[in-house]
Amino acid sequence: MQSRREILHVLAAGAGLSATPVAALGEPVRLDPTPSCADDGEPTPTATRGPYFRPGSPERADVTGGRAEGTPLFVGGRVLGRDCRPVARALVDLWQADDSGRYDTSGNHLRGHQYTDEGGRWAFATIVPAPYTFRSMHIHFRVQRPGGAVLTTQVFFPGDPGHDRDPQFDPRLVLTVSRESGTRRGRFDFVLA
Ligand SMILES: [Fe+2]
Repeated sequence: MQSRREILHVLAAGAGLSATPVAALGEPVRLDPTPSCADDGEPTPTATRGPYFRPGSPERADVTGGRAEGTPLFVGGRVLGRDCRPVARALVDLWQADDSGRYDTSGNHLRGHQYTDEGGRWAFATIVPAPYTFRSMHIHFRVQRPGGAVLTTQVFFPGDPGHDRDPQFDPRLVLTVSRESGTRRGRFDFVLA
């Protein structure tokens, strides 16, 4: 099982989160003093919750539970306010389909939540979800600043041919995905109202 710190280092190495080298695993990740956020400072669009949300997911950074099925994906980013400042201790709750397009409706496989650090950062080790029915590939999130309203949304994958037939697809909710040394990294910054 990988800790969020380890996952953050993997993301930082590939997605420009910071200049901290992977070799510095175990050292604190340095923060960008002023992260950029959406050009217009608009909050992240909402998307429907769908039928597969389950309350009470485990707090963890690796939602695979150590299972080797699927294509590994490190997904992470920041939670920001509209002023582009990081939101610390924000809840980030993830749930998604597996590599067959199925949700675990009786357990917590590919479900988990965590709280952002002082830099507003969150990071999960997961897998690339498969599309299902009319849905393109996506990961569901609920994001909430302490004491704030819940943002329920989804993030999508670039270049997925399923976007055209998915009525829930929103081009503002596409991950930035990179592949380096066989590792897929997805980056998304949530901006809360
Ligand atoms: Fe879904």
